[in-house]
Amino acid sequence: MLAVKVPKGEAEAIRRKLLELGVLARGYAPERRGDFVLFPVTGPVEGFELIEVEFRRLRGRPRSYREVVDVPAELRPFLPSSFDIIGDIAIIELPGELRPYGKAIGEAILKAHRHVRAVFAKGGRIEGEYRVRELIHLAGRKGAETIHRENGIRLRLDVSKVYFSPRLATERMRVFRKAKPGEVVFDMFAGVGPYSILLARKVKLVFAVDVNPWAVRYLEENIGLNKVGNVVPILGDVRKVAGKVKADRVIMNLPKFAGRFLKGAMLSVKPGGVVHYYGFSPEENLFSEHEAKIEAVARELGLAVKFLDERRVRPYAPRQFNIAIDFMVEGSPSGP
Ligand SMILES: C[S@@+](CC[C@H](N)C(=O)[O-])C[C@H]1O[C@@H](n2cnc3c(N)ncnc32)[C@H](O)[C@@H]1O
Repeated sequence: MLAVKVPKGEAEAIRRKLLELGVLARGYAPERRGDFVLFPVTGPVEGFELIEVEFRRLRGRPRSYREVVDVPAELRPFLPSSFDIIGDIAIIELPGELRPYGKAIGEAILKAHRHVRAVFAKGGRIEGEYRVRELIHLAGRKGAETIHRENGIRLRLDVSKVYFSPRLATERMRVFRKAKPGEVVFDMFAGVGPYSILLARKVKLVFAVDVNPWAVRYLEENIGLNKVGNVVPILGDVRKVAGKVKADRVIMNLPKFAGRFLKGAMLSVKPGGVVHYYGFSPEENLFSEHEAKIEAVARELGLAVKFLDERRVRPYAPRQFNIAIDFMVEGSPSGP
């Protein structure tokens, strides 16, 4: 195959240049010949003499899909350096320029990641009551159902039908560490059960509510899959349940709209119980607006709150964060 012959001392710089130009042939080992290195290339490269060489094929997988993907050189800087993996499905966010190369990118991800069997691109924003987004199939299996493992539990889900983010695993473990045996937990927006099922391993009872029938279907499957008998799955709008359960710990993982459900959360927590509230905030004002809202709702109900912990959970958009506020509710609600 075709090769360029370059002096040993310049080899690394030239390798990068060839990569940038998108002409470095993938899957072959460069060769040393005396004071020169031979790089396999896919075609002529301006400024280099071409020679014909038999290269040894590289075994094993590339370390990144970017090493094997075939896109025009000028678009390489736009290739995302990371993507989410849920079970055996990769979900990547592609900038507009790269959309026409989705199939090549999907196939390169399959090549580079042994455990990935399907690749989808994000087709839009997370939207609607169910908090799902459109996905565009790029490569591999077409079905979007998978089993994801996190924090020692298994979660079956269809990434096109329910909300799920693997980026919250650490946050879920943090809440698990705070929970105590004997507690009753109210997971107001349970999804397929990543909080509920994890916490069920420690606490006495979990009420897990979701309005998306697919989420509750998977939640029920996941209860069986993980053999936890103390999770009560409830399909429906949490407003119909709030106030009817009394919990030691309430989880409000609906950052976009959590403010609207604060009253329900406070009516469902026992005196001295804890609420894990999530929200979205601009970098310059992470907590104070949420705190003000929480205090206002508590006042309205004749309750007091004590803020226990506040943190950034993860970046959400440029200069925007998904934040968490843990607060304790003191007293019992007054009036109707
Ligand atoms: C951001 S997701 C969180 C799911 C889950 N806790 C997790 O960590 O994967 C929010 C969930 O709330 C559900 N949801 C939205 N509005 C609801 C409501 N009014 N009552 C019950 N569930 C609701 C959505 O269907 C979605 O599954």
